[in-house]
Amino acid sequence: MSKHTDIKKITVNTIKKMKSNGERISCLTAYDFTSASILDKAGIDMILVGDSLGMVINGYENTLPVTVDEIIYHCKMVKRAATNAFLIADMPFGSYHVSDEQALENAIRVIKETGFDAVKIEGSGERAGLVKKLTGCGINVMGHIGLMPQFVSTMGGYRIQGREGHEKLLADAVALEEAGAFSIVLEGTVSSVAQVITDTLKIPTIGIGAGVHCDGQVLVFHDVFGIFDGFTPKFVKQYANVNKIISKAAKTYIKEVKTAEFPQDIHSF
Ligand code: KIV
Repeated sequence: MSKHTDIKKITVNTIKKMKSNGERISCLTAYDFTSASILDKAGIDMILVGDSLGMVINGYENTLPVTVDEIIYHCKMVKRAATNAFLIADMPFGSYHVSDEQALENAIRVIKETGFDAVKIEGSGERAGLVKKLTGCGINVMGHIGLMPQFVSTMGGYRIQGREGHEKLLADAVALEEAGAFSIVLEGTVSSVAQVITDTLKIPTIGIGAGVHCDGQVLVFHDVFGIFDGFTPKFVKQYANVNKIISKAAKTYIKEVKTAEFPQDIHSF
C-alpha cells in the first residue's frame, strides 16, 4: 500500500492487465513535486516526465536541447510526490543515439538516480535492438512512434503520420512489442491507423493526437490545464484555464499591494 491512499502502487503488470481488461489508461506529464502530487492524489495511472519540459518549463523552441541531467532533476521532484502512479522518464535527444552502450549507461543512470519505473524512447522499428537490450537489463521501455518531436528537423515540422496507410507504423509497433516494450505512445497519428495498431498489439497504446481507439491517452500538463498561453494544438482538450485564473489573481494582488489593501490586520503579527 502507498503512503497517502489505499490505492496500490501501479506496476508494469497493472498497466498490461488494464489492456486485457479493457480498462483505459490515463497519463499526463508532470515536472515537479506539486503538480505530480495533485495528479497522483487524483488517481492518474501514469505520470510521464516528458522532454516537453524543454518547451513548457525551459521555454526552448523544441525538445532538442533537453539533457539527461534536466530529466533526472525533474524526475526526482516527481518521485517525491507520486506514490501510486507508474512513473516514466523520457530519454532526451542525443542520450540514446550514439551507441547502445551510451543508451544503456544513460537509461541505467536515469533509473538508478530517480527510482522511476520506466524510460521512454522515440524511434521506429530500428530502435527494437536497443529496446531488447534495455529490457534485458531490467528496464521497462515505452516506445514512441508516429509524430516524434525529436525528429522535428528531419520531418520539416510537426506532421501528422499515417496518412499514407498503416503498414509502416504497424510494422514499427510490432517490432517494438516483440523487442519487449511494455507500451507504445502513438503521437500525431491518423485515428484509423492507431486503431489497427491498437487492435493488433497485446501491449497498450497510449495516444496523443491519435484518436479514441488507443488503450490510453497522454497530454501535456500545461496544455490540459491551460497554463501555457501559447499555441493549443487541435488534439488538446483544455480542462481548466489556470493561466487566466492566475493572471486575474496576479493583477488583483498587484493592485492591492499598490493601494495598501494588502496586507490587513489578519495577515499581520
Ligand atoms: O515529452 C512529452 O511530453 C511526450 C508526450 C507528449 C508523449 O513525449
